[in-house]
Amino acid sequence: MKRGSNIGIDRLGVYVPDRALPLRDLAAARSVPPEKLLEGLGVHHMAVAPAYEDCVTLAANAGARALAMGGTAGRTDPGEIGLLIVATETAVDHAKPAAIFVHELLGLPPSCRTYEIKHACYGGTAALMVAAEWIASGVGRGRKALVIASDIAKYPPRSAGEPTQGAGAVAMVISGDPTVLALDLGLSGVHAANVHDFWRPLDRSQALVDGKYSLDCYLTALAGAFQEYRSRAIGTAFQLEAEAVTSDHLAAILYHTPFPRMAWKAHRVLAEEDWRSNPRRAAKLPADIEPEVRASYAEKVEPSLWAAQAVGNTYTASLYLCLAALLERQADRLAGRRIGMFSYGSGSCAEFYSGVVLSGAGALAGEIGLAAMLERRRSVSVAEYERHLGSGALGGEASPDLPPPDFRGAFFYRGTSDDRRAYSPV
Ligand code: HMG
Repeated sequence: MKRGSNIGIDRLGVYVPDRALPLRDLAAARSVPPEKLLEGLGVHHMAVAPAYEDCVTLAANAGARALAMGGTAGRTDPGEIGLLIVATETAVDHAKPAAIFVHELLGLPPSCRTYEIKHACYGGTAALMVAAEWIASGVGRGRKALVIASDIAKYPPRSAGEPTQGAGAVAMVISGDPTVLALDLGLSGVHAANVHDFWRPLDRSQALVDGKYSLDCYLTALAGAFQEYRSRAIGTAFQLEAEAVTSDHLAAILYHTPFPRMAWKAHRVLAEEDWRSNPRRAAKLPADIEPEVRASYAEKVEPSLWAAQAVGNTYTASLYLCLAALLERQADRLAGRRIGMFSYGSGSCAEFYSGVVLSGAGALAGEIGLAAMLERRRSVSVAEYERHLGSGALGGEASPDLPPPDFRGAFFYRGTSDDRRAYSPV
């Protein structure tokens, strides 16, 4: 398989909080049938960030794991990082970026350009593309970029969005000689439109959402971004015939996953878009293609969803949590094959892009450690979860509880004094 570029993801570090709420318990507390959450949304636990974690500590903990990958010989020297972008929509300050705290905690050099970026859940992809283009332009002078997507998803208690919360971060080292995924730079399809599907006014700590409308906005953006991607792929990078079905050429397709059932809805729309564009198949109705879509979903989409089912929505990190989950289990099988990625951020901006999984990904996959991290989590009760509401991202607690002795993170939030937030290594 032809490589699209020599720029891409060199390391992929993941971090999720060590507390989780079983959604069966939330369903009981809210008098909702458990099947609605477990099957209808497709999620069985949601991560809960304790008061000593916020988007900064999640990001720094993921960043530390990414930099440490590759063992003593292969670890990334912080001095090699020339650009740090933290993507988040649960920032801790309106002016001071989460990124500058992370810069200090990870020991990055003063010459490292450092900032925070926001466009709802699309922010992680915006950061990834900026970093890849920074390397492609040559202005990085051979240095690497560190992109971290970090969020705590919060909706009001008892709202329809409540079971789609979650928390986590994914850090990616981007380089001109990547080990994990080579990006097909320039092949992306983008779709942007000003919509009020999900937003969070500056004075609120929980998101507002027009739930059903947000699903429509996501799917409209997917159709638009995928059609642009498809038209670029034909006759260019893949040199496909016009009637070829583009998704047939993707070994896996990953979607932004606010809840796993959304990935099924997305995959069905993508299949229909493929179908409609294919003159040989267009005579069939979408209902006729259902068995084929189910088979392609089981093969290409489901293997990336197991972590999202256990963590919930991680906003900017969601798509990259799916990537980490896929690679942890299937990197060797996918080596040399092209995968598709769809990123959606409410508001909205979306991007469909692809990349080729590299042969080095298999050796690093064992270090992602996502399954082990989920295994070690402690379940919280609904009462404990409700006590956590209002803490974390915007809580600004003077002195949250110290992390317990079994805390596996490298950094924690110490509290706020004189309006200044403080963080510590463990
Ligand atoms: P709701 O109204 O509570 O749920 O809200 P519902 O009635 O639509 O039911 C959900 C599913 O469960 C349905 O499946 C039901 O049929 C099924 P579907 O028909 O859609 O396939 N169901 C059952 N299944 C089995 N047994 C039962 C049962 N009862 C019902 N007994 C909604 C759902 C997603 C709207 C809500 O949770 C919400 O508002 N979530 C937040 C918004 C969201 O996640 N939007 C996704 C697209 S926008 C996006 O992804 C961006 C975002 O990540 C933010 C960003 O960009 O920063 C959100």
